[in-house]
Amino acid sequence: MSRASLVVVANRLPVDRKTAPDGSTEWVTSPGGLVTAMESVMRNADSAAWVGWAGGADEDIAPFDIDTMHLVPVTLTAEEVEKYYEGFSNDTLWPLYHDVIADPNFHRTWWDVYVEANRKFAKAAAAATAEGGTIWVHDYQLQLVPEMIRSLRPDVTIGWFNHIPFPPFELFAQLPKRDSVLRGLLGADLLGFQRERDAINFTTCVRQILGYRASEHQIVVPGLGLEEDRTVEARCFPISIDVSVYDELTKDPAVLARAKEIREQLGNPKKVVLGVDRLDYTKGIRHRLKAYGELLNDGAIDPHDVTMIQVATPSRERVDAYKQLRDEIELTVGRLNGDFAPIGRPAISYMHRTFPRTDMTALYMCADVVLVTSLRDGMNLVAKEYIASRIDERGVLVLSEFTGAADELRAATLVNPHDIDELKSAILHALAMSEEEQQDNMRSLRRQVFDHDVQRWASDFLEALERVGGDRGAEARK
Ligand code: ADP
Ligand code: F6P
Repeated sequence: MSRASLVVVANRLPVDRKTAPDGSTEWVTSPGGLVTAMESVMRNADSAAWVGWAGGADEDIAPFDIDTMHLVPVTLTAEEVEKYYEGFSNDTLWPLYHDVIADPNFHRTWWDVYVEANRKFAKAAAAATAEGGTIWVHDYQLQLVPEMIRSLRPDVTIGWFNHIPFPPFELFAQLPKRDSVLRGLLGADLLGFQRERDAINFTTCVRQILGYRASEHQIVVPGLGLEEDRTVEARCFPISIDVSVYDELTKDPAVLARAKEIREQLGNPKKVVLGVDRLDYTKGIRHRLKAYGELLNDGAIDPHDVTMIQVATPSRERVDAYKQLRDEIELTVGRLNGDFAPIGRPAISYMHRTFPRTDMTALYMCADVVLVTSLRDGMNLVAKEYIASRIDERGVLVLSEFTGAADELRAATLVNPHDIDELKSAILHALAMSEEEQQDNMRSLRRQVFDHDVQRWASDFLEALERVGGDRGAEARK
């Protein structure tokens, strides 16, 4: 493919190359909300390319096409995987940007490798983009890329979108190299955030740390020497899902049959409660299991009537905090099943693997209650997927106030997951909710999600980018 007019740059490609013990390789869907959202946007984009990492170390893979997408792999060395991805991205930035739920670790060598890895992505994106094109950079792993691209390719329009929260000044100020991170981001024309609060946090940091003039949404970046000042915009664009996928899947007889089969395999309980998360400490799985365990212990939930399913997707398995979390969760589930499971079926059915979209949809269709209890979450697409799957307009979403989704999904049962008593009451309330109340809430939630799907999110962002990018954007449109 010749150079593309729209290039997406993200840490991950939409597919991951997995090597089996016998040396054979296969491509599997990459984990996480970024891929879920961007994959459907890219399937519909002409002359677009996706630059990202294929998930292994020291693997040189030539650009290739998959379905309608053109993918350009970036090779990471084993040291880069350890220090850029597992280290600075997921052991420094991730906990710091998620309210320090876990302690952020910082090592100067991680930063050095983060800079070099960002340079690799920037170079690959610059090389893949047509004259006057548009480059859309994604997420916290690539915060230096906008500025690096600007110096390599002054002709292109650059957008950046953060899939995770942007922390308040008081937390961001702790980040060593904070000035460089802000300057890296300010290489973009438009910076997108999940919530209004995140955009404001960013502009506050720029004002306080760099001393630039900034209103809530506009920042003036002073030009160097003879350069003119530049205006960068920071706005919120809440991400969403491709509702058409769920519309189709929920009408597929095989998916309907699978939902029925799952319920039967669980012994046809009166109610099914579901949790679906990457196995990540930000998701509040510990809090959820504590509340659910206490309800079993109190006798408020009878495991003969109610079964909980917890899907925990493997994630960042070499980072210590994730290893510890997995041990803790699996110990707790084992204990609760040991104490409460009826003979022949679980109180909590736990799965630590990925599933095809058909199975995920079947799970949503058979769940009477979904628990999203994140302690902090950029958006949380699982919440929106559940809503999109409820063609029967039934089911209850218990949703943490600390998700981006809570700003939009006001008809969910909103909870503070830190308050275990409140969480227990919310679960019981959800299990007892009348069909009429479920329907009222679900109708309102479905309207919200169907009116704001991922295609609209992408076009809102790209239109704003064209407007802000000015001349460079006009070139890209030609
Ligand atoms: P995050 O981006 O932090 O992982 P989100 O809730 O925004 O959280 O997105 C998670 C995405 O991953 C959703 O699209 C969800 O359907 C998908 N997902 C989660 N667990 C699994 C699993 N076990 N198998 C397949 N897809 C999964
Ligand atoms: O949506 C947030 C996100 O962190 C993405 O940036 C990331 O790709 C995804 O979740 C999954 O994490 P990872 O790429 O580290 O497996």
